[in-house]
Amino acid sequence: MTGRLAGKVAVVTGAGSGIGRAAATLFAREGAAVAVVDLVAQAADDTVKKIAGEGGRALAFAADISDPEQVAAAFSQIATELGRLDVLYNNAGVNSGGSVLDATDDDWDRSFAVNAKGTFLCSRVAARSMAEAGSGSIINQGSVAALVGVANFASYCAAKGAVVALTRSMSVDLGPRGIRVNVICPGTVYTPLMEPMLRARGNGDMAAGLALTVAKYPIGRLGTPAEIAQVALFLASDDSSFLTGSVITADGGMTSQ
Ligand SMILES: NC(=O)c1ccc[n+]([C@@H]2O[C@H](COP(=O)([O-])OP(=O)(O)OC[C@H]3O[C@@H](n4cnc5c(N)ncnc54)[C@H](O)[C@@H]3O)[C@@H](O)[C@H]2O)c1
Repeated sequence: MTGRLAGKVAVVTGAGSGIGRAAATLFAREGAAVAVVDLVAQAADDTVKKIAGEGGRALAFAADISDPEQVAAAFSQIATELGRLDVLYNNAGVNSGGSVLDATDDDWDRSFAVNAKGTFLCSRVAARSMAEAGSGSIINQGSVAALVGVANFASYCAAKGAVVALTRSMSVDLGPRGIRVNVICPGTVYTPLMEPMLRARGNGDMAAGLALTVAKYPIGRLGTPAEIAQVALFLASDDSSFLTGSVITADGGMTSQ
């Protein structure tokens, strides 16, 4: 622990699992008081317990980030309990399978509701609070799927592309107010989110799906939640003070080929 977020308040959405849990834990180790937001209350509670077990400070908030009323209620409660907001990591997201030939209206709507609109809703309420203070860091979660075509992921690719465009737009509007906005585009990271995709890619065989996926990565393996959390920490902290509007790929070279 180096105290890179000492005295700061950070909100991490989707912090009940995977990358979000790793980031919330790392932010707390670095001194932040962390608001752990997740759709699944039990998952958020488990992350808070993990952080408390390490001596960190965190509170759980159950909310669906695609619902404007739930977002407003959660952020109001966060302000009451933790005070001024310094960091928002818009990490919560959902996968959505199907190509343009077979994706359903529901696939498209859910992907945009959570991945794109959820990012917008949380950013709007956080940015208003950060603008009053004249400082803040917002980190959005994109994906390599925003940068290259991933087979059978049409709605997901499109929604993550929207997150990258929204990041650039927000960085222009919020830079003069002292708020930096950047987006991380991770390659495949082994988390509960990816298991169905890996299994489907292997025609039901997880090991085969994993092997096919790893073959796309020059580094020869998938990423870990902890590795993406380190990128988020860099963007959350003053170490990245000249970065805004940046699209950071963390993908083991996947998009460099
Ligand atoms: N795992 C990967 O390979 C990968 C790659 C690129 C990008 N991403 C992105 O990283 C983010 C985290 O992915 P992960 O792999 O850790 O997933 P995960 O499924 O392990 O965790 C996602 C968390 O978000 C929560 N969540 C889902 N919908 C929500 C909603 N509407 N409101 C609040 N919380 C909600 C879930 O309950 C879950 O706890 C996502 O945005 C995902 O698209 C993941």
